[in-house]
Amino acid sequence: MPARAGLSPALKGTVRVPGDKSVSHRSLIFGTLAVGETRISGLLEGEDVLNTAKACAALGATVERLGEGEWRVEGVGVGGLTQPDAPLDFGNAGTGSRLMMGVVAGNPITATFDGDASLRRRPMRRILDPLEQMGVEVMDAAEGGRLPLTLKGPRDLVPITYESPVASAQIKSAVLLAGLGAPGETVLIEREASRDHTERMLTHFGAEVTVEPYGTHGRKVTLKGRPELKPRPIAVPADPSSAAFPVAAALIVPGSDIVIEGVMVNPLRTGLFITLKQMGASIDYLNERVEGGEDVADLRVRHTGRLTGVEVPAERAPSMIDEYPILAVIAAYAQGTTRMNGLSELRVKESDRLAAVADGLAAIGVAHRIEGDDLLVEGKGSVSGGGPVATHMDHRIAMSFLVAGLAAANAVEVDDVAFIATSFPSFLPLMKRLGAVIEVDTAGGAR
Ligand code: S3P
Repeated sequence: MPARAGLSPALKGTVRVPGDKSVSHRSLIFGTLAVGETRISGLLEGEDVLNTAKACAALGATVERLGEGEWRVEGVGVGGLTQPDAPLDFGNAGTGSRLMMGVVAGNPITATFDGDASLRRRPMRRILDPLEQMGVEVMDAAEGGRLPLTLKGPRDLVPITYESPVASAQIKSAVLLAGLGAPGETVLIEREASRDHTERMLTHFGAEVTVEPYGTHGRKVTLKGRPELKPRPIAVPADPSSAAFPVAAALIVPGSDIVIEGVMVNPLRTGLFITLKQMGASIDYLNERVEGGEDVADLRVRHTGRLTGVEVPAERAPSMIDEYPILAVIAAYAQGTTRMNGLSELRVKESDRLAAVADGLAAIGVAHRIEGDDLLVEGKGSVSGGGPVATHMDHRIAMSFLVAGLAAANAVEVDDVAFIATSFPSFLPLMKRLGAVIEVDTAGGAR
């Protein structure tokens, strides 16, 4: 389904974006690994997370929806999973599939992992390598260790010390979740700190886990295996990676003044907000508080029209890895060059995001270039628009370029909005409520 976004009046209002995707996946997973009932509120009911819920159920947990965002999980305990009788289909979700590989590893069962065309293209060797070191057998896999693949968990998993070759919370989490099923200590070292929701939730559910600094920006996580995880209630805070889209819209549409409530501001997720403030954006954290073990604030975002290009250091990438497409759009509306360094990981997301962003910028008339793993965007303070932008089964490319159209001279068209439902099903109505002009072409005409 294609859609078009056009010149919009000042955006106004107070909204709440859906629950954080990372925390939502993990709350279902930890609910499954605890013994007894875990209640979750504010769960993101996007396709990615719903696929994780189905996988947890297929592995023996009772997973039930009680109301909007309200879920209960009756867990089976660490090592208590049952063998699924069909392949587990994770759709578009890298996080769901990779974390669940770690979960399956700690059980003497065989499970097949599959997903859509985008997920089947993504690298899984980065997960299989440490899991094989722990004794997991890869019984079958597509070329290059890709999906569909079948894993067999050993009777006795071996705890390892693993230094992750990439700063990735997905690799870290897969190793730690597997480590729950191993006797003794599993140690994960990362040279750049990635999002720490797994470590926080391990502690929340009663596992023994220690986190120490490692090198200049890294961390060393040590987990004692085979704990009995105790069910805990979880309130999922709003997703900063989804909040990024209305934030961006308010920064580029003149006269805008909006509030986004209850956004998680965990310092390992706020690289975008730090960068935007350096560019001169007006973003205030109101009512800062702690909710469900995470730092949360209401974000007030105002258009000031005074954004300038900046250089974003490579070491900031893990804390804003999903936000580069939308930063590239904001950078086009700033004055001067924005240089984003060290983006190699963007090539292996839901699409090759570096290429998809560059092609999208070209389609809407924004000067830019790629130098090695760095992206440079030449901001002129305005965007001409156009399209269609190819979204490549990637929700964040679709949302970023729709936002780009809200202040462009000509409307911006994207080729497909279907994948927005993986992470932010309420994106279109929420943006329209703020005043955004976005039209979707359904079979019967514009909606
Ligand atoms: C996620 C980690 C990130 C991010 C993804 C969610 C997670 O991937 O891109 O959207 O929940 O652990 P990497 O850790 O592989 O960079």
